[in-house]
Amino acid sequence: MRQLYRWSDTVTQEETLDFAPLEQILDRYEGQQSAVIPVLQQAQEAFGYLPRPVLETIGRRMKVPLSRIYGIVTFYSQFCLTRRGRHIICECNGTACHVRGAVKIINAVEKELGIRAGETTPDYEFTYEVVYCLGSCALAPVAVIDGQVVGHLNPERMVRIIRSLNEKNQQQEEVNA
Ligand code: FES
Repeated sequence: MRQLYRWSDTVTQEETLDFAPLEQILDRYEGQQSAVIPVLQQAQEAFGYLPRPVLETIGRRMKVPLSRIYGIVTFYSQFCLTRRGRHIICECNGTACHVRGAVKIINAVEKELGIRAGETTPDYEFTYEVVYCLGSCALAPVAVIDGQVVGHLNPERMVRIIRSLNEKNQQQEEVNA
């Protein structure tokens, strides 16, 4: 997924948004008011989330009231209104994972990242979420990390994964510098 802002930027999100890809998406759906959901999906894919200026632009171009757009994005859990991290870690604490030590993993991740479940690190590198059953109980304890199911976790392995993602981030930053 291509992100349209630099992860290391500390300036406000509005200052770094590039609206050109959004205009392209909207051009494709010109005059199709019923296509709000696919437009929102593609906008989220482009930006990683749906900031207010993006929603306002969609509403203006598609002639759909902002209130209706907000109604849609708050109804469907697939839409996200706040900026999330470059890496999304979704840890399971459902029954099967819980009895196999998920809480120790959660504690280790929170300590390693310095955030609580449901939060994003201040540098927007990681978003950490805890859910209740990912449907892969046979792999418990399990997490989905950047869309990949990772099973049979333990605290040490999870911390290693996070550190390796951090190293890759730093290497990427050096390449981009
Ligand atoms: S309880 Fe964790 S995947 Fe089902």
